[in-house]
Amino acid sequence: MNGPSRTFTPGGPLRGTIAVPGDKSISHRALMLGASALGETRISGLLESDDVRATAAALRAMGVAIERDGADWVVQGLGTGGLMSPRAPLDMGNSGTSARLLSGLVASQDIAVTLTGDASLSRRPMGRVIEPLSRMGAEFRSRDGCLPMTVTGAKRAIPIAYRLPVASAQVKSAVLLAALNTAGTTTVIESETTRDHTERMLQAFGAKLESGAEDGAKVIRLKGESGLRGQNVMVPGDPSSAAFFIVAALLVEGSDLTIRNVGMNPSRAGLLAILREMGGAIEIAAEREAGGEPVADLRVRQSTLAGLDIDPALAPSMIDEFPILFVAAALAEGTTRTTGLGELRVKESDRLAAMAAALGTIGAQVEEHSDGLTIHGTGGAPLAGGGPVPTRLDHRIAMSMAVAGLASTRGVTIDDASPIGTSFPTFIDTLERTRA
Ligand code: S3P
Repeated sequence: MNGPSRTFTPGGPLRGTIAVPGDKSISHRALMLGASALGETRISGLLESDDVRATAAALRAMGVAIERDGADWVVQGLGTGGLMSPRAPLDMGNSGTSARLLSGLVASQDIAVTLTGDASLSRRPMGRVIEPLSRMGAEFRSRDGCLPMTVTGAKRAIPIAYRLPVASAQVKSAVLLAALNTAGTTTVIESETTRDHTERMLQAFGAKLESGAEDGAKVIRLKGESGLRGQNVMVPGDPSSAAFFIVAALLVEGSDLTIRNVGMNPSRAGLLAILREMGGAIEIAAEREAGGEPVADLRVRQSTLAGLDIDPALAPSMIDEFPILFVAAALAEGTTRTTGLGELRVKESDRLAAMAAALGTIGAQVEEHSDGLTIHGTGGAPLAGGGPVPTRLDHRIAMSMAVAGLASTRGVTIDDASPIGTSFPTFIDTLERTRA
C-alpha cells in the first residue's frame, strides 16, 4: 500500500491495435514444466511480471538454469525429481499460483522448502493444497494453513484419487505436478471445469495424461515417473489482461480497438460470452492455434450494455474477470446480479468487499451479499469518480478502478498503482498509447 497513487481521467476514445502480455497461468506452468523436463525448453511470449519472476527465482534457487535469450526464455530442465533444497526461504511475493503450484512440485521430491509471501498472500488459504499433498506423503508446517509454510517432500510419494472440493485450477495443478514424480497413477476429479492449461501442457511435454468425462465430472489420470521432454512453448496473450481493454473500449465513447493474439481457451472465455450477451460489440477474428492453445484477434467497439443475471456455473471460466465485469455492470442499463462467488473472497483481496467499497466510493449503486454483488447500472451515464480507492495489494482491483476512471466525470484515484506489476507491468503505457 506504499506505492504511488495514480489518477485515471476520462479522455479520448481507445483506438488502434494493441497486444497484451503473455498469459500469467501459462507462463508459470511453462517455467515449472520446463524445469521438470529433460533437456531445454524455449519459451516465447513469457509474461515478464512480478508473479512470474517469483516462480523463476524460486526455480533458480532450487538449481534450475533459466535465462533470457533475445525475446525468448530458456530453461535447462533437471528432469522430474531433480530439484534441490534451496538455501533460503523462497519469496512468492503476491503470487498464489507460484505458492500453490510449487508446493505441488516439491511435495513428491526429497527436499524441504519454506515459502513466504507478501501481506496479501500471507492471508490466503493454503489448506486446500496441504490436504491432498499430505495424503500423497508430503509434510507441512504452516501458520494456521497460511504462509510462511515449510513443505517437506515425500521420499516416495503415494498416488491418490482426489475429488476437488473447490473449483480450483491451482489445487488441480498442484496435485498433477506432485504426481509427476509419484509411482503409479494419480487421479483428479473435477465436477466444475477449471482452466486446463496444466493438462494441455503436460501432454505437449509427453506426460502420460488422459482426461475425459465420467458421470458428469472431468476425470484426469496421470501416470507418474514417465518423464517429460523439453519443448518450445508459445505463450498467448492473457485474456484476463485483455479484459481491462475490452471493457474500457466498450465503455468509452467512440472507441474501436483491436487486441491481437488473445488466448481463447474455453475454460477462460466466460467474460467474452457475458459481455456479448450484455450487448458488447466484440468481433472474434483470425481464430487459430498457437502452442496448443486457441488464440484470436478481437475488435471491440463502444456499445450500450444491458445488465444481466450471471449464471454461477460460468464463474470458473471468468473467475479473475469479476472485478472488471462489475465496472461494466455499473455503467450498463438495468441491474446485474451475481451469486456463487464465495471464492472471490480469498483472492489477492476480498474482491466482493473491495469492489463494492471502491465502486460505492465513486458513485455506483452496489449491494454486497455473502456470495455476490447486485449492481444497478447508470445506463451509460458516467460515474462521479473520486477516491483514492484502496487497491488492497490486488492488481485486478487497481486495473478495474483505472478503467472505471475512464468512464467517470472527475476521474478515479487509486491509492497504489504498484500491484499492477503483478500481472500487467505495461498496462499504463498501453492505455496511454491507445488514447494518443
Ligand atoms: C490460476 C487459477 C485461479 C485464478 C488464478 C490463476 C491458475 O485460481 O484465480 O489467478 O493459474 O491456476 P484458483 O485455482 O484459486 O481458482
